[in-house]
Amino acid sequence: MRIGVVGGGLMGSGIAEVCARARVDVTVVESSTEAADRARARIEKSLDRGVRSGKLSAEDRTAAAEHIAYTTDIDDLAGSDAAIEAIVEHEPAKRELFARLDAVLPDAHFLASNTSSVPIMKLGAGTTKPERVLGLHFFNPVPVLPLVEVVRSIMTGDAALQEARSFAQDRLGKVCIDSQDRAGFVVNALLIPYVLSAIRMYESGFASKEDIDEGMIKGCAHPMGPLALADLIGLDTLLAVSQSLYEEFRDPASVAPAVLNRMVEAGLLGRKSGRGFYEYAA
Ligand code: CAA
Ligand code: NAD
Repeated sequence: MRIGVVGGGLMGSGIAEVCARARVDVTVVESSTEAADRARARIEKSLDRGVRSGKLSAEDRTAAAEHIAYTTDIDDLAGSDAAIEAIVEHEPAKRELFARLDAVLPDAHFLASNTSSVPIMKLGAGTTKPERVLGLHFFNPVPVLPLVEVVRSIMTGDAALQEARSFAQDRLGKVCIDSQDRAGFVVNALLIPYVLSAIRMYESGFASKEDIDEGMIKGCAHPMGPLALADLIGLDTLLAVSQSLYEEFRDPASVAPAVLNRMVEAGLLGRKSGRGFYEYAA
């Protein structure tokens, strides 16, 4: 099987890694050579981590790396069986990309988006075959978290849906749940208002960021607190998701707190920029 992964940031590199570990040929498309180099470095670091923790043999690590090609030319995806889009959470950019994928991959079985919140129908609508457009929503970090939400738009066909689910479940070994095509799908519709509430709590001086995070780790056995989680997700992505949720549901719980807007404007994007609610070594 040959698959294209468009966008090689936090999520695209994780998706490419799990595909390559399952012996799928992957082509990662990035917007610049520098971004493609960063994707390669991120994937190789994660594979090395797998070897160090004993989850991957040295031979499997080499084989996985050899299954991934990197390019900045989307035409290099021609002939792929399917594509998964993982570019920035920006609806116009995704719409433009799906129209391009539709033209480059006329015979692909499915075109999936890893969007956190953009309704899938909006992406399918600009293609000639919306029946093969669907959501495969992976979770961060992709090599660690088993879940994939499978999202069917009102136009997605059974064949594409079954093929995509079988790819995620049987080939990649992920656990799938189904979601209607509503902003945020199942998990983010629940998770993001919680993270935004934590930011509001911090912003208002109700409690310190450390105490908010410690409270949820020690009091509710979450693996990390909501402010550290915001930094892991990326504050630009979190802001974009909150905007999509608000646009769809008009629920005040999804309104971005002012401090989140200011941090994104300042380029404080969380782990990926080295600073968000916390600071991170390079
Ligand atoms: N790549 C590969 N492996 C990784 C990894 C990565 N990026 N990060 C961690 N791991 C592995 C480590 O190798 C380690 O494996 P071993 O136990 O075999 O050594 C294991 O995961 C645990 O890692 P650490 O000990 O370094 O760190 P930790 O125990 O603090 O766990 C964490 C880190 C996995 C991030 C954990 O804190 C966690 O699961 N946090 C919650 C993450 C979460 O909620 N994600 C969802 C975000 S929302 C989303 O994804 C949807 C959206 O649309 C925004
Ligand atoms: P990111 O900022 O880490 O990566 C986005 C990448 O897309 C960048 O490397 C950028 O260079 C690249 N890119 C932008 N436009 C492109 C184009 N036209 N062609 C090719 N590459 C392009 O973002 P991310 O966290 O990886 O998020 C990617 C997608 O996954 C978003 O839709 C996001 O909502 C979703 N998502 C994110 C998380 C998370 O926790 N961060 C979890 C699940 C889903």
